[in-house]
Amino acid sequence: MNNHRILLKERPIGIPGPEHFTADVEAVRPPAAGELLVATRYISIDPAMRSWIGAGPSYVRQVEIGQPMRAGGIGQVLESRAPEFAVGDWVQGRTGWQSHPTLRADQTQKLDLSVGTVEDWAGPLGTSALTAYFGLRDVGALRPGDIVLVSGAAGGVGQIACQIAQIEACHVIGIAGGAEKCGYLRDALKLDAVIDYKAEPDIAAAIRRACPGGIDVYFDNVGGEILDGALAALRMGARVVSCGRISQAGAVEPYGVRNLGALGGKRVRMQGFLVFDYHDRYAEARAYLSHHLRAGRLRQKLHVVEGLDLAPQALAMLFSGGNTGKLVVGLS
Ligand SMILES: NC(=O)c1ccc[n+]([C@@H]2O[C@H](COP(=O)([O-])OP(=O)(O)OC[C@H]3O[C@@H](n4cnc5c(N)ncnc54)[C@H](OP(=O)(O)O)[C@@H]3O)[C@@H](O)[C@H]2O)c1
Repeated sequence: MNNHRILLKERPIGIPGPEHFTADVEAVRPPAAGELLVATRYISIDPAMRSWIGAGPSYVRQVEIGQPMRAGGIGQVLESRAPEFAVGDWVQGRTGWQSHPTLRADQTQKLDLSVGTVEDWAGPLGTSALTAYFGLRDVGALRPGDIVLVSGAAGGVGQIACQIAQIEACHVIGIAGGAEKCGYLRDALKLDAVIDYKAEPDIAAAIRRACPGGIDVYFDNVGGEILDGALAALRMGARVVSCGRISQAGAVEPYGVRNLGALGGKRVRMQGFLVFDYHDRYAEARAYLSHHLRAGRLRQKLHVVEGLDLAPQALAMLFSGGNTGKLVVGLS
């Protein structure tokens, strides 16, 4: 049996694309004691991957040239040399961009399919959903009745952030690019208001119009000009959750934020975070998410790009806005 892999060929300067990767095939490596051989089903595609392969600073070690691209994934155990895993178990772990990786059992978790399907674990119970949960509830200190603005609202983290804010009885405004995504947020997710930033010549004015009373919590997935517009519309005591800044990925000259002056006078707290810091509380978040999933209050589009060979194209889609919902590569 072969392990198909996608390796990093060169570091991107701007947005990553197929030219930065190369495909390769090797024989699968039989597991040693404490290891598992896994058939990958879904691979998570994440904006953070840009920083793992670029030449700039990153919060984790860079992927080496010639190595398989790093990624989290879900798969099924084909062979186990770890007593806690059996053949056929569904697991999540550090699959990378590989069809049949051999994984360390101590870095792999068994999926509890009583709380959600394999697809749920890839989407509304996955890391993007955990990010929305801890970002909004802990960092954003969400309170019922808050006016909540979410950028990147049609994406993996954003859709869940919008729905958690709805569940917590907040007034929710979403920002996304294009009529189709905005239609989904308005008609399917029933947000209170939606802003199509690609159709707005002045995003700050559009935010002021959609949030006439100001914003209590801004969940920022994008940074840049949209962050600046949101800062100008904050209320007294507002919280800004700095989750990500995808608009600045690969930017040669990052956007200079101008409206930080609002932070002092309005006693605003702006805080960044990494979901991994909350590792000890993942079970709490998944209990909340699976409860609302079962009750029909939470849904998430899984955007599946089928085929390992298309993983580089899938990664590029994040930066052009080609995905709606949580983006994964599927391997049949
Ligand atoms: N802090 C953490 O621990 C953590 C964990 C996971 C993810 N994140 C961050 O959360 C954010 C969302 O991640 P995700 O995985 O859910 O990705 P995603 O939102 O599913 O996909 C990225 C989306 O970003 C939007 N986008 C791309 N370029 C943009 C630009 N120039 N201006 C505005 N929007 C732009 C696109 O949507 P449109 O079509 O609407 O433009 C695209 O679909 C990212 O910033 C990511 O880095 C943080």
